[in-house]
Amino acid sequence: MSTDDALDAGPYGAPDRELVAAAADADDRAVEGALRPKRLDDFIGQPRVREQLSLVLHGALRRGRAPDHVLLSGPPGLGKTTLAMIISAELGAPLRITSGPAIERAGDLAAVLSTLSEGEVLFLDEIHRMARPAEEMLYVAMEDFRVDVVVGKGPGATAIPLDVAPFTLVGATTRAGMLPAPLRDRFGFVAHMDFYEPADLERILHRSAGLLGVVLEPDAGQEIARRSRGTPRIANRLLRRVRDYAEVRADGRLDRATARAALRLYEVDDEGLDRLDRAVLGALLKRFGGGPVGLSTLAVAVGEESETVEVMAEPFLVRAGLLARTPRGRVATPAAWSHLGLTPPPDAAFAGAATLFDEADIGQGGRLDDGDDEPGTP
Ligand SMILES: Nc1ncnc2c1ncn2[C@@H]1O[C@H](COP(=O)(O)OP(=O)(O)O)[C@@H](O)[C@H]1O
Ligand SMILES: [Mg+2]
Repeated sequence: MSTDDALDAGPYGAPDRELVAAAADADDRAVEGALRPKRLDDFIGQPRVREQLSLVLHGALRRGRAPDHVLLSGPPGLGKTTLAMIISAELGAPLRITSGPAIERAGDLAAVLSTLSEGEVLFLDEIHRMARPAEEMLYVAMEDFRVDVVVGKGPGATAIPLDVAPFTLVGATTRAGMLPAPLRDRFGFVAHMDFYEPADLERILHRSAGLLGVVLEPDAGQEIARRSRGTPRIANRLLRRVRDYAEVRADGRLDRATARAALRLYEVDDEGLDRLDRAVLGALLKRFGGGPVGLSTLAVAVGEESETVEVMAEPFLVRAGLLARTPRGRVATPAAWSHLGLTPPPDAAFAGAATLFDEADIGQGGRLDDGDDEPGTP
């Protein structure tokens, strides 16, 4: 398995995901290695995260000590894996890569931790999916650089303490709210990654075009950036599809007309919404009259797990101003109705609520707003 396979074949990494899905498919993994910025200076956008991280890393380098553990949190495709690799490159330290689902038992983690070398960066992707007993072992290792390996069973079992070389843990998660507080608290630096501005996506597209050896005209870059769902992974994927189209159907130039025609052919909508986004919005509007409706009811309506809807679709729909999370459930905004070309019924619940209950009130985990036990929800 290549590094990128190990990193990106997450639960949503099925190779048949469509064009604008944020999860990586096999094709992405093949090229992402080449497109990943290698140093912090080449990392485009996320200025706050970049600056904070730069301070953490350079401070550690000056002191000649391993930096604090770093938690990277945010939706798929925004650059968490890229940043983990950059952290190891900036520190000039080796990188060890594993992921939560690969750690099924505490022993799996002990095996990794006990073989780290001093200063090594351990990247734990999808850290919220790690087995519980391993989580506990991890807190101790993060704080005291020690693991207790239990030998034997029952009353005769003994814990043998083992030293762990000072290391830096870089955890990545699409769901920071799922991490138990004791684990979250042991990260000295938490970077919240947000969707990218179109201007940053344009810069990423031009950089990628250069690396792929294609000439991307500015207005085509703008067009692709606008439809990339705020996500660099999607931007790079759309760029490759537009390039294919330009080479096969047009004269090879990536101009606006070609970009438009290609994106139309691939059914990427104006806002870059993917099939799941559209399904969620469609269900919210057509089956639940615009809401409010609980997350799990909505997930059942589109035939997905609640977590898939919460991680893959909602953050962008909220960011795009199409959906609001309120204490009573999910609510469509007026923009959602017009995006799907529908007229809201006169009694539609509008997200004036969105201004009353913004993300900050709902908190990281979005826990208080499930609303599934409200009476009258179908
Ligand atoms: N800030 C950035 N600048 C340039 N390219 C980026 C940036 N962030 C992500 N990318 C590109 O997007 C792709 C996906 O990023 P990745 O780090 O795998 O996301 P995540 O791990 O958050 O799902 C990478 O291959 C990289 O080429
Ligand atoms: Mg990743």
